[in-house]
Amino acid sequence: MRPRIRFAPALSFAESTRANCATFSFAIMPTIRVTSSAHPYNVYCAPNALGRAASLITRLGDSTGTFILSSPRVWRHWGKTLTSKIPNRAARRPILFEDSESLKRLETVEGIARQLVTAGADRGAVVVAVGGGVVGDVAGFAAASYLRGVRLVHIPTTLVAQVDSAIGGKTGVNLPEGKNLVGAFYPPKLVIADPVMLGTLPHREFRSGLYEIVKYGVIADEKLFDFLERRMSAILRRDPAALTWIIPRSIAIKARVVNEDEREGGLRQILNFGHTLGHALEAATGYRRFLHGEAIGWGMIAATLMALAVGRLSESDASRIIRLVASVGPLPPLSNIGASQLRPILAGDKKARAGRVLWVLPRRIGKTVWGEEVPWKVVTRTFAALPAIAAEAGLR
Ligand SMILES: NC(=O)c1ccc[n+]([C@@H]2O[C@H](COP(=O)([O-])OP(=O)(O)OC[C@H]3O[C@@H](n4cnc5c(N)ncnc54)[C@H](O)[C@@H]3O)[C@@H](O)[C@H]2O)c1
Ligand SMILES: [Zn+2]
Repeated sequence: MRPRIRFAPALSFAESTRANCATFSFAIMPTIRVTSSAHPYNVYCAPNALGRAASLITRLGDSTGTFILSSPRVWRHWGKTLTSKIPNRAARRPILFEDSESLKRLETVEGIARQLVTAGADRGAVVVAVGGGVVGDVAGFAAASYLRGVRLVHIPTTLVAQVDSAIGGKTGVNLPEGKNLVGAFYPPKLVIADPVMLGTLPHREFRSGLYEIVKYGVIADEKLFDFLERRMSAILRRDPAALTWIIPRSIAIKARVVNEDEREGGLRQILNFGHTLGHALEAATGYRRFLHGEAIGWGMIAATLMALAVGRLSESDASRIIRLVASVGPLPPLSNIGASQLRPILAGDKKARAGRVLWVLPRRIGKTVWGEEVPWKVVTRTFAALPAIAAEAGLR
């Protein structure tokens, strides 16, 4: 089912920055409806959507308390604003936990649950996760398991979280044995994605999220791809109009895919375009060299070249995709990583079947297929050629 993008009245910038101004003006706020097996929910995405957080949370129905979960870093940037937008006791006493990937683990969830008990959260509580994907995944899993489930609201503050992790209901933590191995499908009741919150994001984190948006263009939306080609420099400057165009559009694509395949039985696999090799690169470098989006950037270039090599994609589309990835900015080098080192990691990938590596390959811009096998010699040849081809496309 296609998600509907509806337009709901939202308080305008003028209202949300001058709270005591008596005359409210209304702007248009895109609302994306996500269906899930548990319940449908809305994603509100607009500049200053945060100004409506209190009323949107109130509309969820009676609650016995609102409990904000966030990280010290996110709270340093946004705590004051949030406290003024969600004016209750809980907002003044958020539960903060470190959001480094290495602390995305069960002990952190236990710590949160214990603080929720101390704060008096009962089954009628609403948990509001304010942060990037780490906060969302950890807080989401805490909400899923605390008292066997309390209501969850996401306020994503990174580009990755706004266009990806806050949508679709996946929550969870890592084990020493691997990433995201313990978790739950636990859709939120509400998502508020405010592009203004991206203003404080470090540039490298911002660019990392852009690769996921490039991915959406390639797999499902030629118009989005065209826009990214034309407006990349405005996007990199975080031009509000450009962001307000690409973020809801990306959310709608993720929503459409998860509406059709919530539990990753089939279609949802297309979201893994660039991720087969990307995940292997992250694992091979101990999750230290690449930000996730950067690894996906290399992965998308590789999958594009493989699609070209096996005759699934035209040369002109391949060249446009590689140029667009390169235009997002520099990627950490692939030095000292060999294809042979990646092979066992690729064979253990979630998408591999009995050791056979299955790839997500573009057919043309806006259309992708998944479950494709590629001869190993094509994979190694592609991997060896990656740096030179990327440099030719303008990648620094
Ligand atoms: N559940 C899903 O479907 C899903 C999808 C994609 C990624 N993920 C997970 O998301 C995580 C990555 O998330 P991420 O890319 O959002 O990074 P992140 O959560 O690690 O945040 C990156 C850094 O940015 C800081 N930060 C966050 N918002 C900020 C803001 N507005 N201003 C300044 N600093 C800010 C954080 O404190 C952190 O230091 C990974 O653990 C990944 O597994 C989950
Ligand atoms: Zn990703």
